[in-house]
Amino acid sequence: QVIRRDAYREPDWLVPETALDFRLDSLQTRVKARLTVVRHGDHDRPLRLDGDSLTPVAVSVDGRAVTDWTMEDGQLVIALSGVDHVIETEVEIAPELNTQLMGLYASGGLLCTQCEAEGFRRITFFPDRPDVLSRYTVRMDADKARYPVLLANGDPIASGDLPDGRHWAEWHDPFPKPCYLFALVAGDLEANRDSFVTMTGRKVDLGIWVRAADLPKTDHAMAALKLSMAWDEAMYGREYDLDVFNIVAVADFNFGAMENKGLNVFNSRYILADPDTATDMDYDAIAGVVAHEYFHNWSGNRVTCRDWFQLSLKEGFTVFRDQQFSGDQGSKAVKRIEDVRTLRASQFPEDSGPLAHPIRPESYMEISNFYTATIYNKGAEIVRMIHTILGPEKFRAATDLYFARHDGEAATCEDFVKAMEDGGGVDLSQFRLWYSQAGTPRVKAALSHDGATARLKLEQTVPATPGQPEKQPMLLPLKVRLFGAQSEAPLCDERIVMLSAANDEIVIEGIEERPILSINRGFSAPVVLESDRGAADLAFLSAHDDDPFARYEAMQQLMVDTLVRAVAEGMADHGPVIEAVRGTLTDKALDASFIAEAVLLPSEAFIGDQMLVVDPDAINRARDSLRAELGVKLESAWRGAYDSAQANRFEYSPAAKGARRLKSVALGYLAASGAKDAADLAYAQFAGADNMTDRQGALGVLVNGTSGNRAKAIEAFYDRYQDNALVLDKWFTSQALSTRADVMDEVLALSSHPDFTLANPNRVRALAGAFSVNQRGFHGADGRGYAFLADIIIALDKLNPQTAAKLVPPLGRWRRFDERRAEKMRAALQRIVDAPGLSKDVFEQASKSLG
Ligand code: ARG
Ligand code: ZN
Repeated sequence: QVIRRDAYREPDWLVPETALDFRLDSLQTRVKARLTVVRHGDHDRPLRLDGDSLTPVAVSVDGRAVTDWTMEDGQLVIALSGVDHVIETEVEIAPELNTQLMGLYASGGLLCTQCEAEGFRRITFFPDRPDVLSRYTVRMDADKARYPVLLANGDPIASGDLPDGRHWAEWHDPFPKPCYLFALVAGDLEANRDSFVTMTGRKVDLGIWVRAADLPKTDHAMAALKLSMAWDEAMYGREYDLDVFNIVAVADFNFGAMENKGLNVFNSRYILADPDTATDMDYDAIAGVVAHEYFHNWSGNRVTCRDWFQLSLKEGFTVFRDQQFSGDQGSKAVKRIEDVRTLRASQFPEDSGPLAHPIRPESYMEISNFYTATIYNKGAEIVRMIHTILGPEKFRAATDLYFARHDGEAATCEDFVKAMEDGGGVDLSQFRLWYSQAGTPRVKAALSHDGATARLKLEQTVPATPGQPEKQPMLLPLKVRLFGAQSEAPLCDERIVMLSAANDEIVIEGIEERPILSINRGFSAPVVLESDRGAADLAFLSAHDDDPFARYEAMQQLMVDTLVRAVAEGMADHGPVIEAVRGTLTDKALDASFIAEAVLLPSEAFIGDQMLVVDPDAINRARDSLRAELGVKLESAWRGAYDSAQANRFEYSPAAKGARRLKSVALGYLAASGAKDAADLAYAQFAGADNMTDRQGALGVLVNGTSGNRAKAIEAFYDRYQDNALVLDKWFTSQALSTRADVMDEVLALSSHPDFTLANPNRVRALAGAFSVNQRGFHGADGRGYAFLADIIIALDKLNPQTAAKLVPPLGRWRRFDERRAEKMRAALQRIVDAPGLSKDVFEQASKSLG
């Protein structure tokens, strides 16, 4: 059934205190809960405790066993006569059989929990909603040999040994929290220990817990944690509040990581790194996710969400914070380019498809389906716009006000916007539409020039989305600057144009020469921009704009225009792109990491997004042909870039990362050029690399080729890393992303490889998830890609509905393809919807995708 935002009602009963007692066992865990409940408001409604797949073994009220409870839809319903009571329940669960990885489950010999959003109800009966905040005490006992380490939220209170080789530990978390932040871990773990002294001089003990063999791979995560703690103090005035902070890495996890109070649990791919097994992108992602989860301690835990419709309150804000943090660690410009690329690759398609929803949705069937790029990444863009509108000082005043006002509360998006208004001294009435309207606004910009006057005509439209046929104009902060075509210099200061109407005209005086428009600089508003700037002006901006993002953007636009024309007309003039790339590639003032981003062609999927009907084969041909010509015409420049990017020894620094990135990009172009030595160069890089970035970069190039080195590299990579699950994931992904015509056959073969398993979400995503975004391979005209994905979804749904549901969206893009493909995509969706015993997770995604 459908849950609606406007149906929110305050809880009938509050639970100020919770005491849990776990007798841990992989097949038979006994959970006793003791809840102090207090009636909230004047009513005679019974106490309803959520449960999922739980059967009460015993129930008592105020110390007396009772039997007059009932079960309704999984809920335990108990009639209570007074205002406050003590409720005790007992249940039994089997972590080893929990394949959904929600609640208490087993992963590689450990027992761990995942409760957000609604996993706590799989552990014990409880009002499983984020506005019920409780103080937790947790006692657990377990076999000491199998589970020597026992962790939970908060601070350790006491521990001791028991007869029969068991032991126990007790933890107490002084901060009231919603149950989705509960966590417990038991296992044979070792810690990388360190400490951090907070801004008021309190010492916090830090621990990153992993299997003993992985300890050497935890230093990068620990460094990132300490940087995050210092950064949040300096930038937001946020201090850590407990005496310990623990992180545990687990191999089987439905998403990236989880911010449980004082005990973050991570997918091991966002903790473990060393040069031989992790790429620079992995290193960056680890730092970003460690920071993200740490930052949740304030934006999420101290101030939590009233209900799940407010999810972006904590996620959008926290993603913005982690983006700022990562930008401060290296190149801000490159970080912004990466974030915008992610937004365009994952959020724009969502916003223009059948699953479009505002960052504060109005309804859902299954909340897990709303942990989306819209809630997270578009949510972050909306906080970023507030930051742009307020400026850094007022923004800081406003966030201080927000944290002070709502500390210890379960808040709403409206509370956040109100604090931004009150603390920033601005009116955000119209801006609030960003919270309720879905769809990516489109802005048309046209610049004219007459005498000394420049006129910028702006027009915005917000496209219709499911359930929202009519849209209002939104408030868009657009950073604008003009450059002189002759002088090659700026003609005015950067200004922020606040576009609030459907149409507007901005007049800029004192413009004595032909101006060239630089707009939406820094991607100040998450919109699609259409302008009448031709190839020459775009090439000019790619060389002369003083905003690095705008330079990148001009180059991308030039490439996209060229490729879209090539697809439509069968051919296009490659000249302007080649000259612009040559200019960037040989610009001595630019750093390698920026060059590497700027000279990359837009992805096939992004080119497809610009077309009315996506033609995957024509896009592939057009892009390959431009790539080949870039390779041939600039061959010596690529060789120069390749050679100068050769580093001596591995080092993780912004400069060394940039060099490695450019090296693999240059290698890719050399291979595309058809240079006879390219495959040998690639194999030499592959075999001789002292780091995974170079090795995987070369593997990616070889996998797309036809040389004998291809099979050799694939085999050598497997042999070297077959015992390392995270690296084996890369092996699957590299092949799933192959641009060769036989990729479907290879992916099918890989899906019956002995190392492929549906039990591990990372492995599923590495093969099926990666293949589903390989536009040409997945959309092969015979429809085998669609059938393959549907098979995986149907099979996985029986084990892990949440991860299965995340694989559905690529099939929902059927409206964007020709009729024959659309038909086959719909058939695949229909087959999923018709599958017997389908979860509501997959049902919601597949049925909405059918439309
Ligand atoms: N709160 C976690 C984070 O963003 C993610 C939880 C995801 N939960 C889910 N049901 N998908 O850090
Ligand atoms: Zn988060």
